[in-house]
Amino acid sequence: MERTFAIIKPDAVERNVTGKVLAMIEAGGFKIVGMKKILLSRAQVEGFYYVHKERPFFGDLCTFMSRGPVIALVLEKENAIADWRGLMGATNPANAEAGTIRKELGVSIEENTVHGSDSPESASYEIPYFFNQLELV
Ligand code: PPS
Repeated sequence: MERTFAIIKPDAVERNVTGKVLAMIEAGGFKIVGMKKILLSRAQVEGFYYVHKERPFFGDLCTFMSRGPVIALVLEKENAIADWRGLMGATNPANAEAGTIRKELGVSIEENTVHGSDSPESASYEIPYFFNQLELV
């Protein structure tokens, strides 16, 4: 079994589609082993996305991710990291395949509804950024 870290982003929480995302997660065979709703400060978002700090969209991304609450999740299944990236779809919803979350629910390259760890190293940083051991069951 493998664990990955996921976020349901502010655009989805604002549009009341968190239930739709959770249904797609469960239909995809993932177990939800951690879940919390949280309003991130800008500094907390900047720390989370530190690997992207030199990229041109970093400021916009941090403004977006701190503008409203998110749902932080830890998902578990075999091959969870790659499978969750597959279920999310391409970063830009316009390029995402049918049946993926970003194709079905994404708005734009910024408001793309979900985040997922891109590697085991990322998951190892991101999971404990949000959850302690006692919160993962
Ligand atoms: S990824 O998922 O890391 O392979 O995608 P990448 O293209 O490298 O993007 C990294 C994160 O930045 C977000 N992103 C953007 N936000 C705002 N504006 C623009 N133009 C933009 N381009 C990319 C993208 O959604 C990724 O966020 P996360 O939360 O990691 O999915």
